[in-house]
Order: sequence, then structure tokens, then C-alpha cells
Amino acid sequence: MTNAKKKIAVIPGDGIGREVIAQALQVIKATGAVVEFTEFDWGADRYLADRTTVPTDGFAMLARDFDAIFVGALGDPRVPSNIHAKEILLGMRFKMDLYANVRPVRLLEESLCPLKHAGPKDVDFVVIRENTEGVYMDMGGFFKKHTADEVATQEDINTRKGVERVIRFAFDYARANGRQRVLMSDKSNVMSYAGNLWQRVFKLVAAGYPEIEVQHMYVDALCLQMVRDPKSLDVIVTNNMFGDILTDLAAALQGGLGMAASANIHPGHTSMFEPVHGSAPPIAGKNIANPIGAILTAALMLNHLEMSAEAARIDAAVLAAVREKKTTSDIGGKLGTRECGAWIAERASQGQ
Ligand code: NAD
Ligand code: IPM
Ligand code: MN
Repeated sequence: MTNAKKKIAVIPGDGIGREVIAQALQVIKATGAVVEFTEFDWGADRYLADRTTVPTDGFAMLARDFDAIFVGALGDPRVPSNIHAKEILLGMRFKMDLYANVRPVRLLEESLCPLKHAGPKDVDFVVIRENTEGVYMDMGGFFKKHTADEVATQEDINTRKGVERVIRFAFDYARANGRQRVLMSDKSNVMSYAGNLWQRVFKLVAAGYPEIEVQHMYVDALCLQMVRDPKSLDVIVTNNMFGDILTDLAAALQGGLGMAASANIHPGHTSMFEPVHGSAPPIAGKNIANPIGAILTAALMLNHLEMSAEAARIDAAVLAAVREKKTTSDIGGKLGTRECGAWIAERASQGQ
């Protein structure tokens, strides 16, 4: 139940982003959620037409006028520099300070997992990825560029405040969601300064959550663990780059990138929701992209907006689609993007 109509800014973006967002919007409407969508054309077409990536004061407008932002994907081969994607997507994460990237990893059915005999009980964890710092800050430079003596540096920025708030978010998330363990993953055996900061802050923050078990794993070992024994994982907190890489691996455990959802959160601020996958140019425009990652992302967004009944209807409808194979071919179904979206919307509209 909600009091006021929630205002959602929609940025479908590029490639399959546009196709999957269209389906997810239809599913949200089918749940009866009291929301109002306002669509923005930020993406490659707009950039190529007038060189605008984000209009003046665009981020301030999103924060001021909307309750949430729903994004498809950004990236287009006609913009090889990827400048528009960086300014729009990373712009929202950084300039709106959406410091926690929450990426749940849930296997809906055994048939979707590439691991032998792994079922839904074995793959159910969440990655909390630091979302505003690290190597993503684009600090570095060249020395003697285009010569045989060229040097390139890429700085990894880790601030005490940034590390602390995302670790605290992970513990709060564990507490609020009935999770028992928080695992911090780094590469402190090599990245001694950043790793040392993460280690110290992790211990300090953990002391405030005595009921939660703490673990640490180097990120390479965690990759192995994720494949060998995903059941042992609960809440993982890690830096921006490691979180990016780990969540593509984790997507494979769920049936592929087409199944993975994510939320970019700053508690109390307008937050942003996007599937984990990109714009997938080779399959764009063919009605074959899996819309489920975007649809599950819509459920994350509705939950965040305190529309948990509507979100639960979406989750149940997706589960039914997977069980009845009303899905796209990447996960073994025979439907197109639109047909899969329509089936899930129809199911989500039932039982209101
Ligand atoms: P990608 O996620 O677009 O595709 C990787 C692989 O997964 C491809 O084989 C693709 O066909 C498949 N795939 C992805 N989503 C799928 C779906 N919904 N259904 C079925 N198959 C799906 O990653 P990429 O190829 O590395 O990147 C393509 C572009 O997207 C690049 O410009 C990249 O920078 C951008 N990108 C954007 C985001 C984002 O906006 N959040 C995320 C990742 C990549
Ligand atoms: C993701 C993407 C982005 C990232 C790219 C498109 C900048 O891979 O959201 O996982 O690296 O964060
Ligand atoms: Mn990624």
C-alpha cells in the first residue's frame, strides 16, 4: 500500500536496454503499482544527434523530481569512446553518490545453473559493490605517450569514508534481511595500502554487529569459492572493480546476464535501478534479449519504494515463467523478448 504516486524517471538507453525496459514497464503497470513514468532519451542516439550526454542540471533534476530512476543499458559501437555511457551511467552513480551497488544472486531453478546439481538453495547470496570510488574514479595519466618509453597509470582511490559507509551498508543489509554472514573480499596480499584500509575498517565496523559472522577472502579465492561452493556465501562486500567482475561470474550461476538485477542505493536519496547486463549490440533489435534481469530489477525498485506486494507479484510471475519455460532462448525457452514480457505481465496482473 502506498500513499502517494511514486515518480519514476526512465532511461531506456541503448541496444537491448530499450527492449527490456519496455517489457519491465509493462510488468510494473500490470501489478497495479501506483507509479508515474517519465522517459528520458539520454543515450547514444541523443549524443550523436546533438552531443548531449546529460542535459545541464540533469542529475539535480533527477534527485529533486523523482523517487527512483530506472535504467536499461548504455553503450553503443557508434560511440567508441563510450563517453555518453560514462557520463550518464557513471555520472548517476558518482554525482548522485549512489554508493552501494546491491546485486542479489539468486538461482530460480536448477536447470538454469551451469553447476552440476546446484539448486535454488545453493545459490542465494548478495554482492554489495562499492560504487563511487576505486579505479572507476578515472584518475591517472600518461607519460611519454606514444613513445617506446610510454607509462600509463590508473589510480585506485579508497577513502576512509567511502570504505566505511559501504561496509556499514553491507552489515545493515545483512541485519535487515536476516542474513548471517558478511564476507569482505579484497586483494590485500598485493594491494597493501588499499587492502590495509579495507581490513581495518571492516574489523571496526564489524564490532558493532556482534550477531553477524565475519569472513574474509582474497578475490581470486572468492572466484573459486563462488563456483565450487556458492552455498557458503551470504553477503559479500567489495570494491568497485572486484564487484563488477564478481557479479558477471555470479550472473552465470543464475542462468546468465539476462537474469541478473541490481540497485544503486544511497539510503534516503533518489536511487537508481538497472539490470547487470549491458546493451548487447549483437543481439539488439532482434526481440531475443532476456527481459527477466530488467523485470527483477523492477521488483527491486518497487521493494525500495515500499511496494512490497507489487514486487512480490513480479517475483512470483518470473518464477512461474521460468518453471513453465515461458522464456527467451538464452535460458531454454522459445519466446521472444516481447512475448516473454507479455506473459510475465499477464501473470503479474493476477491476484490483485
Ligand atoms: P553485455 O552485458 O551487453 O553482453 C555480454 C554477453 O551477454 C553477450 O553475449 C550478450 O549477448 C549477453 N547478454 C547480455 N544481456 C543479455 C540479455 N538480457 N539476454 C540475453 N543475452 C544477454 O556486455 P558487453 O558485450 O561487454 O557490453 C556491451 C556494451 O554494453 C558495452 O558498450 C558496455 O560498455 C555496455 N555495458 C553497459 C552496462 C550498463 O549500462 N549497466 C553494463 C555492462 C556493459
Ligand atoms: C556494470 C557495467 C559498468 C561497470 C560499465 C558499463 C561502466 O559493467 O554496471 O556492471 O563497469 O560498472
Ligand atoms: Mn559489469
